[in-house]
Amino acid sequence: MKPLDTLREQVRRDRVFDFMVPKTGLELDVSHGTILYLEGLTVSFDGFKAIDDLNLYVGAGELRCIIGPNGAGKTTMMDIVTGKTRPDQGSAWFGQRIDLLRLNESEIAEAGIGRKFQKPTVFEQHSVFENLEMAMAGDKRVWPTLYARLNGEQRDRIDQVLDLIGLADARRERAGALSHGQKQWLEIGMLLMQNPKLLLVDEPVAGMTHQEMDRTAELLNSLAGQHTVVVVEHDMDFVRSIANTVTVLHQGRVLAEGSMEQVQNDPRVVEVYLGE
Ligand SMILES: Nc1ncnc2c1ncn2[C@@H]1O[C@H](COP(=O)(O)OP(=O)(O)OP(=O)(O)O)[C@@H](O)[C@H]1O
Ligand SMILES: [Mg+2]
Repeated sequence: MKPLDTLREQVRRDRVFDFMVPKTGLELDVSHGTILYLEGLTVSFDGFKAIDDLNLYVGAGELRCIIGPNGAGKTTMMDIVTGKTRPDQGSAWFGQRIDLLRLNESEIAEAGIGRKFQKPTVFEQHSVFENLEMAMAGDKRVWPTLYARLNGEQRDRIDQVLDLIGLADARRERAGALSHGQKQWLEIGMLLMQNPKLLLVDEPVAGMTHQEMDRTAELLNSLAGQHTVVVVEHDMDFVRSIANTVTVLHQGRVLAEGSMEQVQNDPRVVEVYLGE
């Protein structure tokens, strides 16, 4: 075949991008509807199994809550997904094609998994807007030269995130002057600047006022669909206000899973956790 015919043939087979786009191996494929597959995971710390043959699946676009007693392995599960901890056994896939156990922490972030730790880590000396700007840049060193070069699309994205996190009016305030709750939202906003497909959030409402909690529930609800959000939280009122599906971890495995109503009435869950 002549080159042009070859090209046409490629287009016809819908494979034109196969030779135009560099293969990163990090293209997310959620065509089966599941964004996270954790299977047979085991992690031991000095012989103690913090995660013990864990099987957990999260659907694309879900807002999933993970609950369970202290030491159940919730944070360790997030550590595995983000590459901070390597399991002794099992597999962890991001969509059908990305094997998380073959990637390091920065590659996992780049593939589209963002994590919010409990303690906010915003740049206190900079404004709210600048914090989002720096998060968009990713590489903090290029920041001082970036401001002048923000294009319209980037400004729109920052405005969009400012609205989403409810800090549009505080855009010029120094991040250090924000309330605890506002700092948490700013940090979620900073993660959103990287446009993660999966967002892991560990205990977001600890230390928040009731009003801040309500606002956080709204924020996380508004992210679901576009993003998949996995939230670990102990505050049951908060979990009740956001969750569709709740997974209960206990001794490193799934003890129960279902609607809040279902897990709440599960005697095993009441015994190990809710009955405390
Ligand atoms: N790096 C580590 N070294 C040793 N033990 C660890 C390590 N990380 C976690 N563990 C242990 O593994 C178990 C699970 O801990 P993990 O932090 O995952 O629990 P959790 O469900 O997040 O609890 P909490 O609700 O208190 O945050 C605990 O017994 C903990 O002490
Ligand atoms: Mg924890």
